[in-house]
Formats: sequence, C-alpha cells, structure tokens
Amino acid sequence: MRFTGKVVLVTGAARGIGAAVARAFAAEDARVAVCDVDEAGTRAVVGELEAHGAQALGLRADVTRSADVRAATENVEARWGQIDILVNNAGGFGRVRPASEEIPDEEWDAILRLNLTSAFLCSKAVLPGMKRRRWGRIINLSSIGGRGGTVLLSSHYAAAKAGILGFTRHLALEAARFGVTVNAVAPGTTATERFKALRTPAETEALIERVPAGRVAEPAEIAACVLFLASDAAAYMTGATLDVNGGVLMV
Ligand SMILES: NC(=O)c1ccc[n+]([C@@H]2O[C@H](COP(=O)([O-])OP(=O)(O)OC[C@H]3O[C@@H](n4cnc5c(N)ncnc54)[C@H](O)[C@@H]3O)[C@@H](O)[C@H]2O)c1
Repeated sequence: MRFTGKVVLVTGAARGIGAAVARAFAAEDARVAVCDVDEAGTRAVVGELEAHGAQALGLRADVTRSADVRAATENVEARWGQIDILVNNAGGFGRVRPASEEIPDEEWDAILRLNLTSAFLCSKAVLPGMKRRRWGRIINLSSIGGRGGTVLLSSHYAAAKAGILGFTRHLALEAARFGVTVNAVAPGTTATERFKALRTPAETEALIERVPAGRVAEPAEIAACVLFLASDAAAYMTGATLDVNGGVLMV
C-alpha cells in the first residue's frame, strides 16, 4: 500500500477523473477527502469508498470561493490532523466556444476562476502545513487544451489550463526546499460524463480518429498518473507536466 497514513484532498471528486483519483488513493490505503459542489455525488463516492473499507470524508465546497476552501481544509485537518496530498482537479467548461469574440466577459472570468484560481486558493490553504511537516504533494489537472494547439475547445479554458502550468512551475520552485513537490497532469480526451455530454457520437468518432492510440483515456488511467506523482517514486520530480494523451501531442 503506497499511501498508508497519508491524507489526500481531491477537489471535484464527485464524478469523472476526480472520483477515479479518490478511488485509486483509497485502494492504496490513503484517507481521502472528497470535495465537490455536488453534495449527492460526494455522498455517493464517500459511501462507495467506505463500503470498500476506506476512510473517507465528504466536503461540500465551491473551490472558487476562498471561505469554502478554508472551511473544507480546516474540516479535514480537524478530522485527520493534516493534508499531505492535494489534487486540484475541479475544473472544466460548459460548452465548446470556437470563437473567442462570442465568449461573454463573465464566462471568461468564471472559467479562469474554476480552472486556475481554485488551484491557487486550495494550494494556499494547504501549503503552510505541508511546509511545516516538510512533506507534501500538489498535483494540478491541466489539459492537452493548455499544452498545444491540437484540440479546438475554448480560449478561456486553454488560457486557464496553460496558466495552471506556469502556476505549477512557480509553486514548485517556492516549495522545493520544504520537501513539497508540485506537478501537473495534462490529460487528452478522457471518457468522463462531461466528455460524453459535450459531443455527439459522430463528433466523438472524428476525435478518436485523430488519436494515435485509437481511443480516448479512461479516468482510471489519468488517476494512475496522479498517484505516481504523489508516490515516493516521483520524489525527485517537481514542476513537471505529465502528458497523458494517447500520442496526440508529443513534446
Ligand atoms: N475529461 C476530459 O476529457 C479532460 C481532459 C483534460 C483535462 N481534464 C480536466 O480534468 C479535470 C476533471 O475533468 P472531468 O472530465 O472529470 O470533469 P467532470 O465535469 O466530470 O467533473 C468535475 C467535477 O468538479 C465539480 N466541480 C465543478 N465546479 C466546482 C466547484 N466550483 N467547486 C468544487 N467542485 C466543482 C463537479 O461537480 C464535478 O463533480 C478538470 O480539471 C478538467 O478540466 C478533463
């Protein structure tokens, strides 16, 4: 068991990649805080983890709001005394916007806040404890959409997911001396509920044709990379981005 004794906070963990990350950590004996705005989904994931004998805690928090983030992290610390691993996974976008001039200003702000500012707020809340204990792992979910111009999605999402990489590198530099690593995972298209709702079957077919691996990723495959970055095997990796995209983008 790679994560016995560790406390993990996963944001946006009520479904999709976040839920897969929560399941994978629980399977490796971590204590897992499942944080999401979706209370019913959070309860379901916590119930599932507990049914498998894991220690799990559900937290209703909107990670774009600093008061919610503070309350959530205090809650985890009150229960388990610490947060060792933070996975900044909450994110996404409502619809593909191929023309930036059609993006309402408020939508631009909201997407930046959900995909970028949230990672800042959560990291800010956990860093002091990690630095004090001289051990910590922060893993940020970027996207192939923020890595290279290979997938036409939306410029606000691309900007936020590219921004996450700059944030990851700077935070890595700040935290390295304290035994805290900060890395990013940049998935290609992954078969989550959000992905399925976003495209028609014909659009999905067309997308898959452009993937050298001939398929999209499963959430568990992205989770496996997150766990690697949190593990001792990756202790000397910091400021890095793992591209997990079936060969769509090779850099
Ligand atoms: N699925 C993909 O193809 C793909 C590809 C690249 C990157 N990503 C990134 O991976 C992450 C997870 O994606 P997914 O497809 O699993 O998404 P998803 O939409 O299936 O799940 C996202 C979760 O985040 C929660 N959430 C949304 N806003 C929140 C908020 N303000 N506070 C707390 N929780 C909130 C939602 O309730 C949901 O449970 C995102 O950051 C996404 O940008 C996904």
